[in-house]
Amino acid sequence: MASARTQVAIVGAGPAGLLLSHLLHRAGIDSVILETRSRDAIEGTIRAGVLEQGTVDLMVETGVGARLQREGFVHHGIELRFAGHGHRIDFPSLTGGRVITVYAQHEVLKDLIAARLDAGADLRFETAVKAVQDVGTDRPVVRYAGKDGVEHELACDFVAGCDGSYGVCRSAIPKALHKEYLRIYPFGWFGILARAPQSSDELIYARHPRGFALISTRSPDVQRMYFQCDPNDRVDNWSDDRIWAELHARTEGDGFRLKEGEIFQKNIVPLRSLVCEPMQHGRLFLAGDAAHTVPPTGAKGLNLAANDVFLMSRAITAWYESGATALIEGYSAAALKRVWRAQHFSWWMTSMLHQFADATEFDDRRQLAELELVTSSTAAATVLAQNYVGLPLGS
Ligand code: PHB
Repeated sequence: MASARTQVAIVGAGPAGLLLSHLLHRAGIDSVILETRSRDAIEGTIRAGVLEQGTVDLMVETGVGARLQREGFVHHGIELRFAGHGHRIDFPSLTGGRVITVYAQHEVLKDLIAARLDAGADLRFETAVKAVQDVGTDRPVVRYAGKDGVEHELACDFVAGCDGSYGVCRSAIPKALHKEYLRIYPFGWFGILARAPQSSDELIYARHPRGFALISTRSPDVQRMYFQCDPNDRVDNWSDDRIWAELHARTEGDGFRLKEGEIFQKNIVPLRSLVCEPMQHGRLFLAGDAAHTVPPTGAKGLNLAANDVFLMSRAITAWYESGATALIEGYSAAALKRVWRAQHFSWWMTSMLHQFADATEFDDRRQLAELELVTSSTAAATVLAQNYVGLPLGS
């Protein structure tokens, strides 16, 4: 058994873990990151791609935003499409000038990994965390097996659980001391990546009797699109022709015609909402998907992770600087405020735009009336826009 010590043991090299390690490093605090997957697997996994203004600002201000600023796409609005017509929601005019940036999550990860390695970070890929122990004491320990199978013990002051929805950290909080709020939606999203020209300058969120569809982008030549599907459906059931027919049907109207191309990636994701309360226990702090999951309709997942670690790094930094415990003790309550707000927004967008199997004709008309409201009332559009572009970090 090999032993080592660090200040903060970070479990997981996703957006939360890497950004936390970066922010702590800037404050002069050491961390070790333990990650199950390989660097290639992390950098190649396709996830969402919408960054709130606050997330972009944090990356830029802390020196990891150069490529994002060069290659990311600034969007000033989105389109809501229903009953055969598109309706634009303009962000800057409704939010005091705020915008969003489309930049894929794995590109964020590449930038953070490069910055961490350049700064000499201790990043251990392909390690399996076996146990997070003694978090109720001031000397917690993380036990893990290295790539070679050798068991290691990492002692630390704090453990940051950034190991995603299915990681081990959440279960290190005793069952009796936390509650999990879960909602499983009766549908999933079928996602594709296609080498095709952009069909629209802005993201299109479409409500259609056949189900929801989302037209997003990655670059002028690569497009990301999704459509609501049965969560138990299989990718093999969908030929390229069938996919295009479905996407055309769900986005038609106003003469709009989606541009097709070669589909080079297909996947199905289930839609869930989950919140773990509290997000901390003793010296263990959860961040990102380890503590909460949102359905992707609100594009909030990565941005919530950024807010969590912004708060966590501030709290840990204050503790090292002065021994102050107020921010540490208040971490969960502070983070959960935004988490629940994002849960509500993501649930709202999901409910407003998807078809539910048990919906009645009344529900259909009510859903359309809600979309009419959001696209015709400045007050209602402002609620959507403000939530979509996101609050300043830490609030
Ligand atoms: C994406 O581009 O992958 C994307 C965009 C907006 C969403 C979800 C996913 O709401």
